[in-house]
Amino acid sequence: MAQKLRASLTAHLLQDPLHPFACYQVIREQHPVYYSPEFRSWFISRYNDVQRVIDDPELFSSQQTFRRRRSSSEEGKTVRTLLWADPPHHRQLRSLVSQAFTPRTVASLTTRITQIAHAHLDAVAAQGTMDIISDLANQLPIIVIAELLGIPTQDQQQFKKWSDIIVSLARIEKKQAVIAMNAYFLNIIVQRRQEPQDDLISALLNAQLDGASLSNAELLNFCRLLLVAGHETSTNLIGNALLTFTEYPDVMTELRATPELIPPAIEEVIRYRTPIQRLRRAATSDTHIHGHAIKAGEIVSPILGSANRDEEQFSQPDIFDIHRNPNRHLGFGHSIHFCIGAPLARLEAKIALEALLIRFTDIKRNTAFPLQPVASSFVYGVKSLPVTFREVLSYE
Ligand code: HEM
Repeated sequence: MAQKLRASLTAHLLQDPLHPFACYQVIREQHPVYYSPEFRSWFISRYNDVQRVIDDPELFSSQQTFRRRRSSSEEGKTVRTLLWADPPHHRQLRSLVSQAFTPRTVASLTTRITQIAHAHLDAVAAQGTMDIISDLANQLPIIVIAELLGIPTQDQQQFKKWSDIIVSLARIEKKQAVIAMNAYFLNIIVQRRQEPQDDLISALLNAQLDGASLSNAELLNFCRLLLVAGHETSTNLIGNALLTFTEYPDVMTELRATPELIPPAIEEVIRYRTPIQRLRRAATSDTHIHGHAIKAGEIVSPILGSANRDEEQFSQPDIFDIHRNPNRHLGFGHSIHFCIGAPLARLEAKIALEALLIRFTDIKRNTAFPLQPVASSFVYGVKSLPVTFREVLSYE
């Protein structure tokens, strides 16, 4: 019976990724730790357990979730990326890019991000309809992260396509997209070696790890990670925010009247519709959680989207409440891998939402278009979000 229930829960998660929350509740109550053969992972769904797993990199490794990749050009040297590195290497890698994403450095991007947001709203203002995803949320974060890395404007849309494929479920296309993206980045790396610019790729070329420059493989991993992590998530944050606001029109009215509430509203969106639903770790030795024996090497999947709806941590977790305080959601992860791009994601979302709410009123979802989930097993978001609106203020 329990097995049957577990199988149907997994099937539900696969079939209805936009409405996993009732299912998460059942899992939290009845099977807080359960093995899903379909996902080949142990699902961990309660807030405290999720936090325990992600706070213990010694027992739950990020690095060991993937077979170590070896590159022939690197003479067999193991290549690790930040997201999939464990201490102590993780700290060294993180220190190479952390400067670029401090709240202070990120704040200096405010003017440029504001320009990009308004330019995209200008393009649709007169028509009274727009697709929040394709007309704004898909565009703004890719332009920002591509500019930070130093990718020329004319190539940014191509990057968006590769990146979408990389987080999708299409395995063969994924490999091809990685190969194409790597070839492109290598070309830029060669150019920046000859002629450094004021961008992140040039900064990484100057960086030293254990007294040596980064290898091409390490550079490529960094570029790919920053590009993909730096926009797929922010895109869905902006989309999830608008989707939720259209369900709670009073919140939109309140935010228009009190824009200082936009940052806490963004945190609540991250809790309520967590853009990254699940993480991945590997047990490094045999262990137990709630009496379940997890063997060394097995994959453990902390469900952030469930932890963020845990009634033991949040009162009335299924209510969207922008005044929730405290709001200790785990949407950006926790501990050593806490999202390095959180200040940037928060700023992009704040500027985009402020611009939308100040300029447009009567924003309503066009329900003639059914919501479709993005094609990913761990990203929460919608493919498109058509809305109607009235322009009340144009941007000078
Ligand atoms: C709403 C937007 C975002 C969400 C929800 C999000 C979520 C996350 C989460 C949950 C992690 C932890 C992964 C783990 O523990 O395995 C993470 C790590 C990371 N994120 Fe984000 N992210 C967002 C935006 C960004 C942006 C804009 C950037 C970059 C520019 C970025 C770059 C990274 C990087 C590099 C890591 C790895 C950090 C490390 O391993 O130390 N993210 N993010």
